[in-house]
Formats: sequence, C-alpha cells, structure tokens
Amino acid sequence: MTNSAAELNIIKTVLGYTESGNTHMEPGVMLNPVSHYTDPLRLQQEIDTLFRNFPIIVGHVGQITEPGQFFTHNDTGVPMLITRTQTGEVNAFINVCRHRGARVVNEPCGKANTFSCPYHNWTYGLDGALRGMPQPVGFGDLDKSAHGLVQLPAYEQDGLIWVRPSPSEEDIDFQSWLAPMAEQLNALKLETHSVYREWSIHRDMNWRLALEGFQESYHFCSAHKNTACSSYLDNQSVFVSHYPHVRHAVPLAHITQLKDQEEKDWDYRANFMDQNYLFPCNFIQAMTDHVYVHTIIPTGPGTCVFKCLMLIPEPAKTDKAKKYWEANYNVVRTVFDEDFVIGEGIQQGFSTGVNTNFTFGRYEAGLQLGQKAMDDALAGHLVV
Ligand code: FES
Ligand SMILES: [Fe+2]
Repeated sequence: MTNSAAELNIIKTVLGYTESGNTHMEPGVMLNPVSHYTDPLRLQQEIDTLFRNFPIIVGHVGQITEPGQFFTHNDTGVPMLITRTQTGEVNAFINVCRHRGARVVNEPCGKANTFSCPYHNWTYGLDGALRGMPQPVGFGDLDKSAHGLVQLPAYEQDGLIWVRPSPSEEDIDFQSWLAPMAEQLNALKLETHSVYREWSIHRDMNWRLALEGFQESYHFCSAHKNTACSSYLDNQSVFVSHYPHVRHAVPLAHITQLKDQEEKDWDYRANFMDQNYLFPCNFIQAMTDHVYVHTIIPTGPGTCVFKCLMLIPEPAKTDKAKKYWEANYNVVRTVFDEDFVIGEGIQQGFSTGVNTNFTFGRYEAGLQLGQKAMDDALAGHLVV
C-alpha cells in the first residue's frame, strides 16, 4: 500500500488511542467571543481580509476542460468569470463591464469565443481584453487596452481552480501557500476525477457555524446519531496542523482490524475520512472512494452559502454506478443537513445573549487551529 509516512503515523496514533482510551487533546480550552458570529463589523473585517486576500476554490478543472469554456461565481460579493483561454490557461476576471458596470456574463456556465455585455454590447475576449464596442466614435480616443476586464489571480492545481477574489499588483506565491498540504492533495489525484454533482445551499447561519461542523468529530455521535456515528470511532480524530491549513483525519470504526494486519498491508484511505481544511473557507473532504470539495462563504452576518462539488474517480456510466453514487450523495446531503439545522438553531439563539463566549474544548482541535489562523490573518500576521 502507498501510505505516506504521515499517514502511517496517523494510523499508529489512532491504534494507540484505541488501546489506551485516549484521544487527541489540545493543551487547553479556547474561548471564542460570541460577538465573532454576530458583529457586522467583524464580518466586514472577515470579508475584507479572509474573503479577498486568500485563494478560494471556485471549481474543478472538469468544468472548463476546453478552450472557450467558462463559468461564473457570484457568492463572494465579487462577481467572477472564470474562463479557459485559447492557449489553455485558466483566467479569472471581475465580471463587471468597464463601460458602466453591468454584469457581462449572466449564464452559470457555457462556451464562447467572446463575451458581449448585455447593456451596450461592449465585447471582451476570453483573455478579458476589450475587443470593441458598437459605434466607437462616441468614445473619442478611449484606450481600449486600459478597459479590459479586471483580472484576478487564478490557479489550476490538483484538479481544482482557485481564485483570489481581489486583484493583486504583486505575484502571489500560490505554491508556497498550498505547500503544507501539497503531498496530501497530490495523492488524491483530483485532476483525474469527474464532477458527479455540484450544489449550493443558502442557510440562515453565520458562515463560521457552518465551517465548524467540519472541524471536530466530537459531535458525530450526537448530531449524527442515526447516520454517520456508527461508521466512525467516537471522538478519536487526529488533527495535524499544516498551518494555516489542518488535516482532520476521522478514523472509520473498522480501523481496529488493522491491529491484526501487517503494517505493509495497511491502507490509509480505506480507513479514514479526511476533512482537510484549507484556509480560510475551503474543505477537501476525502472519503474512502470519492471526494467532496466545499467552500463556505458569508452572505450576511447571519447567512451563508455552502457550495459543494462531489468528485468521483471516473464518470458514472452504468446504472449500478449511478445508483451507488446517488446513494452516497443522498447520505451526505442528509448528514450535512443535520449540521446545518443545528447551526441555524445556534444562530436563532444568539439574540438571547445567554453566551458571551463559546468554549472550544480540548477535543475540538480544528476549531482552535482554525481560530488561531483567522486571528493571525485578521491581525495582518498571515498573508499569502
Ligand atoms: S455597461 Fe456594459 S456595455 Fe455598457
Ligand atoms: Fe457534522
């Protein structure tokens, strides 16, 4: 089996926990002020910093394999147009016309050679350049080269498309940013996967509440009592900090069988669900045979959108395969919904003022690590 050294360590750690009855514990508890979930000023800081300066996953390469294919992304507050150019690169632009600001592309996805703004027909190329406009004489000697669509830093890596939702004068060292998680992402080979489903869910809860459902497994056997609980060891996750990202390895219940196998026969992937957090709002959740990629984006102090891609190793061609993946999709929708219903309940309780702080327990390591990285970013100590 091709387990990495890190994966062997995680397996041994979990087997150790099952013998000793211990589990991963952070040195102490952490308090998180409830105002972090309710204060509109705080949300604005989060949007300005976390949701403008860091790369966010916007899609899978399977959505734009051919030159001219494009999709739009409208949830961050920065309307974005993502294209594959004639030369094969991924480009991202602010989807705002340079004439008088109309949204240039309104379709969710498609294929085109040029994009014409619906308002007055200014036309842009796949590379964002302003190609022309009707009756140009009315614009005098307007410099077309200065009126192209505004470009956003975009990256194609490990089968995923990442965009920083604000322009940058300087080059961003994206590879270094991802480096702490690179080995793990490479191993998933997402570039060979196909998109089985893509969906977005708007929920009435602060975005952090949705995020936190994936940062600990202490809740599994209560919130998911009749669904996920029985598949996993109770509260025995391993958290590996790859600052500012986090590997959250959740062991399946049958991992205890590895005790009777030789180490060379161990298969990490078959025994874990990895909920990999990629700062600030992205998760790559690797199941034993498929992967969910999700991003959680605030749409207001008490609202967010959860965007998810379900990636499968090869297209579902047979009825049997379709049935199998559909069953997986239905289960995950149910499990996610269990978390969101609880999150919306938390949101509704904020107005009572009952809690001044939330206590992140020693088990809830992903919450603690994620909070630390966010505090660092908001204080200007963490940059791409
Ligand atoms: S606003 Fe786009 S062409 Fe006028
Ligand atoms: Fe959950």
